[in-house]
Amino acid sequence: MVNRQWLCASYVPPDEFPTQKHFELVEAPMPSPQEGEVLLRTLLLGTSPAQRMYVTKESEFHIKVAPGEVMSGRGVAEVIESCHPQYQVGDIMEGTLGWQEYVAMSPDPQVKDGSHVTPVKRVENPVRPLTTVLGLFGQRAFSAYVGMVEIGDTQPGDQVLVSSAAGGVGAIACQLARARGASRVVGIAGGEEKCRWLVDQGLCDAAIDYRQEKLEAQIGEALPDGLNVYLDNVGGDTLDAALQHLAVGARVAICGHISTEYLRPRPPGPTHYYNLLYRRSRMEGFFVFDYLSRWGEFEAQLRQWYADGLLKLTDHVLEGIERTPDALTSLFTGANVGNCVVRVAPDPESVPAL
Ligand SMILES: NC(=O)c1ccc[n+]([C@@H]2O[C@H](COP(=O)([O-])OP(=O)(O)OC[C@H]3O[C@@H](n4cnc5c(N)ncnc54)[C@H](OP(=O)(O)O)[C@@H]3O)[C@@H](O)[C@H]2O)c1
Repeated sequence: MVNRQWLCASYVPPDEFPTQKHFELVEAPMPSPQEGEVLLRTLLLGTSPAQRMYVTKESEFHIKVAPGEVMSGRGVAEVIESCHPQYQVGDIMEGTLGWQEYVAMSPDPQVKDGSHVTPVKRVENPVRPLTTVLGLFGQRAFSAYVGMVEIGDTQPGDQVLVSSAAGGVGAIACQLARARGASRVVGIAGGEEKCRWLVDQGLCDAAIDYRQEKLEAQIGEALPDGLNVYLDNVGGDTLDAALQHLAVGARVAICGHISTEYLRPRPPGPTHYYNLLYRRSRMEGFFVFDYLSRWGEFEAQLRQWYADGLLKLTDHVLEGIERTPDALTSLFTGANVGNCVVRVAPDPESVPAL
């Protein structure tokens, strides 16, 4: 048996996004677990725009992957051999597996650069499809939750705007706005097809294609009374256009700025920030990992809303480890619709269905 791994083949230049050519698929020997370790078989690999920074030499991101190293990434795995007394064969784990089919590692917390890190942890009460671990009941949903509930403080009757609404975080955020009683949810996405999907799937009341002209006017038409909550995933001109439509007391949650994140020199900040003053509004950024101690609480609420019929799965699954670089690329071309993940091996039948 061999272990297929994706290595970083070359750093990604700052003005490019990662594609297949920056990675190399190799066959390595099967790892064998030592005392205190478990052998994991990767089932799913997640994607995150932040992975672009891992392979950009000039980036200041804390995770770095050099040419020749296995690409880093989070995923879901099954324990297939255990040399650790607290873990059994069949346990479902989530964490930093890397882009590979198998990995042997200790699930115990470790001290790295002075802080405690848990590279993989057991998923309590996993359900099929296991994409839920990365999407609806996972980190993307927790990000949407922090933006829409903790910072956005969405209230019944609020009018809500979400950018990158057809993406992983965005598609869940739109549903959370509804679950919190928003009276109107408007999504911004790239292209007619994604906009139609947002409305047809019942995630949004209306959707705006930012690639068309006059984004600011389109927001005004979709939200004539202004917006109470804006979850921003893209920054740049989209954020600036949204700031022109704040209702009094609006909350703007900054989740990401993918449209400007990699531009150097950095573009100037939003021209219309003064509306935060005139409309007595606030704008606040967040990192989902700062809320780690509350993920259990978020997950319980998300599971309840799912049981109440208020949430649905919005997964975008690419089949086979061969597609992993394509999955990452799709976040930058906009080819993904919803929570983009790669299926490396089928969900085990032993896991109960949702
Ligand atoms: N703060 C946190 O803790 C946290 C946690 C997770 C994610 N994030 C951030 O949240 C955002 C969404 O992440 P995700 O994982 O759910 O990704 P995603 O939204 O599923 O995928 C990225 C999407 O961004 C859009 N996009 C790409 N390049 C763009 C550009 N130049 N201008 C405008 N839109 C562009 C594309 O959608 P279109 O086709 O619609 O353009 C693409 O589908 C990202 O900015 C990410 O960095 C933050």
